Amino acid sequence: MTGKDEYYNRAKQEGYRSRAAYKLQQLDEECGLLSQGDIVVDLGAAPGGWLQVAAQRVGASGKVVGVDRQNVRNFSEDEAGSGDGAAHVETVRGDMTEADTRERVGETVGEGGADVVLSDMAPNVSGEYDLDHARSVHLARQAFQTATTVLEAGGDLAVKVFDGRDLDDLREGIEAEFEYVREVRPPASRDSSSELYLVAKNYLTAPVRAGDEVVVEVTDEGAEGDGIARVEGFTLFVSGARVGDRVRVRVEEVKPRFGFAGVVEHEPDS
Ligand SMILES: C[S@@+](CC[C@H](N)C(=O)[O-])C[C@H]1O[C@@H](n2cnc3c(N)ncnc32)[C@H](O)[C@@H]1O
Repeated sequence: MTGKDEYYNRAKQEGYRSRAAYKLQQLDEECGLLSQGDIVVDLGAAPGGWLQVAAQRVGASGKVVGVDRQNVRNFSEDEAGSGDGAAHVETVRGDMTEADTRERVGETVGEGGADVVLSDMAPNVSGEYDLDHARSVHLARQAFQTATTVLEAGGDLAVKVFDGRDLDDLREGIEAEFEYVREVRPPASRDSSSELYLVAKNYLTAPVRAGDEVVVEVTDEGAEGDGIARVEGFTLFVSGARVGDRVRVRVEEVKPRFGFAGVVEHEPDS
């Protein structure tokens, strides 16, 4: 039996709308994407396998917004993904390459923002490898752009892309905005497929990045004795600095809600 048959049959038996449902299960198990209560955006959601998995995993206190240019059939009571304990699912019909659709997605998510953006969007395959790759990268960039407008600090992005020459460039762009990025090929992807998922963890909204140098005032002392400074409200722990110091620091590590820095030099008027 081929991999396709195995997952196809399982999907039929277990009430999933697509074999793709198992890819999201595997991505979640490997990378820890979905938690109870999360607000999730699922791009390229039709026919709805990922919506079912996401709805089950975020539970009744969560919400899943599915987007596709094709219609996503409403969930009936007996399908996985509906009923008790599953999240509320809302769908937006539209093309993610159009600004109007991206705007409607933002409105449906609401002001609180999203915890996770997923994209399983894929172009209609022409069979010409470079063209299909380029189209897939274009869709992945739309997903990335959407993630940077709807994700909360610390949120995650998982986006499908076909392997090829523009992958590294796409990955570098995403890496600049998240704590780290992994390439994952879930077992449920067909063996022959060139698809992979870039899983980006912990969206950074900090005004600084590792390697930056900034001048800061140390205003507080942390529990470990480090100095604490703020850059546009963002907390930097500065080792070896004291309250009242005005120092030039080099940012060493950036987390979603705080960062670490070391003193380069004391500024003259300190
Ligand atoms: C592989 S299928 C997604 C399967 C889905 N994850 C599931 O579990 O059922 C890819 C989807 O991406 C959608 N898609 C492709 N380009 C799109 C675009 N520009 N805007 C919105 N959806 C798009 C297609 O309509 C298709 O339904």
